[in-house]
Amino acid sequence: MAMWHKAVMAAVLGVAVASAGGYAYAQADAIKARKDGFQVFRTSMGAIKKVVDDNGPASAAVAPAEAIAAQAAKQLAHFPAGSDKGETKAKPEIWANWAQFEGFMKDAEAKATALATAAKAGNMDAVKAGFGALGGSCGTCHKQFRND
Ligand code: HEC
Repeated sequence: MAMWHKAVMAAVLGVAVASAGGYAYAQADAIKARKDGFQVFRTSMGAIKKVVDDNGPASAAVAPAEAIAAQAAKQLAHFPAGSDKGETKAKPEIWANWAQFEGFMKDAEAKATALATAAKAGNMDAVKAGFGALGGSCGTCHKQFRND
């Protein structure tokens, strides 16, 4: 499809969605924002894994651990009610069990903060344990609230 054609299609679709209400747009924006946020999680976990595999330097785990903690603090805002529709793997159970979902995200945030503290102290044993604990909290939430 030619570029101009795509642009016209996008404009047409945009108008169609907008006329159905700004709501649909907001949901799609939220889904994109949270996926971008989870990609920050993924990239940062990769950086921390390298520190664990290389047995240091612990200082290299500070920034990625802090990035996860900061992103975790923003992620819940990208889960508006009803955003289990569309290009998403989020299960509707999230909104039926919001307190638990929120608790899982806060747990990940706390574990990332603890990991950053261990990394700042140069404690590789604690960095390794913290990496395992944080990874566990990712898995716990995915198992319950994310479709495969
Ligand atoms: C509180 C629950 C929760 C926690 C904690 C959590 N996730 Fe997720 N994650 C989800 C949900 C729900 C989705 C599906 C999002 C969607 O498709 O809209 C997801 C999606 C993802 C994705 C795919 C994003 C995309 O581009 O489609 C990655 C990667 C990811 N998570 C990594 C992680 C990592 C790494 C951690 C731990 C550091 C983590 N997540 C912690 C709930 C969580």
